[in-house]
Amino acid sequence: MKLFNNLKASSIEKNQGEAHWQAPSNIALIKYWGKRELQLPSNPSLSFSLSKCLTQTKVKYSFDQKQNKIAYTLISQDIKSNAKMNKFFNILAELFPKLHHFSFEIETQNTFPHSVGIASSASGYAALSLSLLSCLHEAFGVEEDENFFKKASSIARIGSGSACRSLLGGFSLWGKNKYVPQSSDEYSVGIDDIHQDFRELNNLICIVDKEPKKVSSSQGHELMNQHPFKVQRFSQAYENLNSLLSILRTGDWRSFAGIVENEALTLHALMMSSDSPYLLMTADTLKAIEVVKSYQKQDHYLAYTMDAGPNLHIFYHPQKCKVIDKLKAELKERIEDCDFIEDKIGSGARKL
Ligand code: PMV
Repeated sequence: MKLFNNLKASSIEKNQGEAHWQAPSNIALIKYWGKRELQLPSNPSLSFSLSKCLTQTKVKYSFDQKQNKIAYTLISQDIKSNAKMNKFFNILAELFPKLHHFSFEIETQNTFPHSVGIASSASGYAALSLSLLSCLHEAFGVEEDENFFKKASSIARIGSGSACRSLLGGFSLWGKNKYVPQSSDEYSVGIDDIHQDFRELNNLICIVDKEPKKVSSSQGHELMNQHPFKVQRFSQAYENLNSLLSILRTGDWRSFAGIVENEALTLHALMMSSDSPYLLMTADTLKAIEVVKSYQKQDHYLAYTMDAGPNLHIFYHPQKCKVIDKLKAELKERIEDCDFIEDKIGSGARKL
């Protein structure tokens, strides 16, 4: 997708202005783990947007024809200027050289607390990309067209792969595959054929460890290039995706748990079996899994997944699952300092 084509021919109409967007975090059911080129995924992934874990980002821009290098400042405690963000801005300016005449002031905040082990890069880059793109449309006096979200999703992907799935509400799929003809490696698309049960998913985030992770996702993706099981993993992800798409249509909870738990454990098994093996699970992660599995025997409206970290995302149906209060109490009892964020499937990004 040509990201800035509708802006390239236009001249500047407004030298300064601002845009303000909020975007949700997302949790993957089929995991993206391994990439090529400009953050293109090695396999398709599928996630849903959360409702309460959000990033709100206000971007102010100013345009100066005499300026020759894109500039940005961050006025926020929630994201730091770092090599990843410098790279993000430099890539955007390579794609659209007029950006070198722009300065951006970025103010951002998360609705979820700092240091709870929840990554904010997905919601952060999604909100930033939407705000930047809105600013550019305003600056060049161009209407946001029907491809606005796809373009913002592609821009977010350049910042952080999984961020491209943090724009739409409900379920988002990223990565070209034969099961969803409109799918793309560049941006995410929505999946709408979803059983009522899964439209109401609740996500209890069980925080067992608040420490920042010791091995970054970027390092993890990198290790997939030489991973001894990469061929099998990438084809497994396609098979799991195909199965999950039909499970999401039919509302089969037991099969849902089978696939999403397999994906979570596979992700961690890939870390453990890479050339530089590492563990992100802790003893408390295993305890939490044990508790979920024991309640799942009595009540099948329950499943869990994990991100690249030690915390558990517990999925349940808000009315049909009857054991959630007991489950929470047992997690509290067995795991010292265990905290919860009560979230659920959300409605996607919006302009503020
Ligand atoms: O977007 P990144 O580069 O931080 O990678 C995230 C990968 C996982 O969160 C582990 C899985 C996923 O699909 O979100």
